[in-house]
Amino acid sequence: MKRLLVTGGAGFIGANFCHYWSATYPADRVVVLDALTYAGNLASIGELVQQQRLRFVHGDICERDRVAGLMREESIDTVVNFAAESHVDRSIEDPQSFLRTNVMGTHALLEAARSAWGPAADRGMRRFHHVSTDEVYGSLSPADPAFTESTPYAPNSPYSASKAAADHIVRAYAHTYGVPCTISNCSNNYGPYQFPEKLLPLCIVNLLEGRPLPIYGDGLQIRDWLHVGDHCRAIDLILRASPVGETWNVGGGSTEPNIRIVEAVCDLVDAAFRRRPDLRQRFPGSAPAQNRSSRSLMQHVRDRPGHDRRYAVDGSKIARLGFVAQTSPAAGFAATVHWYLENERWWRDIVSGAYRDWYARQYAAS
Ligand code: NAD
Ligand code: DAU
Repeated sequence: MKRLLVTGGAGFIGANFCHYWSATYPADRVVVLDALTYAGNLASIGELVQQQRLRFVHGDICERDRVAGLMREESIDTVVNFAAESHVDRSIEDPQSFLRTNVMGTHALLEAARSAWGPAADRGMRRFHHVSTDEVYGSLSPADPAFTESTPYAPNSPYSASKAAADHIVRAYAHTYGVPCTISNCSNNYGPYQFPEKLLPLCIVNLLEGRPLPIYGDGLQIRDWLHVGDHCRAIDLILRASPVGETWNVGGGSTEPNIRIVEAVCDLVDAAFRRRPDLRQRFPGSAPAQNRSSRSLMQHVRDRPGHDRRYAVDGSKIARLGFVAQTSPAAGFAATVHWYLENERWWRDIVSGAYRDWYARQYAAS
């Protein structure tokens, strides 16, 4: 039986991980530590909290002594660090909070683990898993091979630079102090509970509200898309099967230009409206409710400064550990559109709150 501290467990991937873990290992103890920034949402794990399948602690990973105390109190043996500022556009607007949480926060968390876990000899069953990104490797040209675990780091945005710095600190703590760390560098996730500032949920929510779908620049930037459920399974596998000190790239092996992703989402929403007459009443402002194709809402806008052109992940190392992505993009995108249609309350509460102001400023600038 494991005793996990899941930091950032009220965010997109962290919340999915909590649902996954409590369904897969119901006997384990899960403690979530989350600062509930704009991106944190207790509603995403509300059911698990109510059913007492996890303990929620409102707190900041930067609070080293408090976190060490929590780890001792709960006899934590496994830390999975999802807590981060995660949106590239926001990092371009306000890099400081990214350096604070992603760099200093990761450092504070490592110090807390070092203090709670004591000398290296006692660390056999313990693990500090740090969740990172493929963006640390920078941008690929069309002919470049996909990122491997030995591709040199070349982060281009304040976000990816902060994640790269955190990865280096994690590695240094494993090497110097023997903290039993592993790192995963994952590609673009999508699925339930994703905050509607990221491309997929932003498009779904905008579509349903009849707002434009912003395509940065020419829309030919390429990302590698992975369903969040597959990411959770990959982390589980790493926790169970990886030696300490290893890093693992995780990708979906499905690379598509952004514009094709947006077109696919438009077509899925249009198809759902054709199948279900109730959607016209529920979303009267949407294009299909007004007998227009959702694609008519696509709009090219000013490009993201320093926008990385292409990511692709070579997943052969984790494949040798036994990982295979189970959800195809076709099935995963359809399921995600369906989730947002069925969980209107979840995203409406967000759109009617703080996110709206940030969204309005983004539009004013483009
Ligand atoms: P998210 O922005 O949806 O959630 C981040 C969570 O961290 C929120 O609940 C927030 O409240 C919490 N948080 C922020 N600062 C905190 C602090 N100082 N102390 C405690 N909690 C804090 O992010 P996400 O998309 O779920 O990403 C989770 C992790 O996975 C991040 O480290 C991100 O870099 C990484 N990642 C994300 C993706 C992706 O596609 N979303 C892909 C690869 C890696
Ligand atoms: O690659 C992994 C990374 O994926 C994670 O580390 C990040 O936390 C996560 O946010 C994500 O970063 P991206 O910048 O790739 O995701 P985003 O959804 O913001 O954008 C995906 C692509 O779509 C990117 O090329 C920018 C483009 N885009 C995005 C938005 C929000 C648009 O064209 N229009 C938009 O409105």
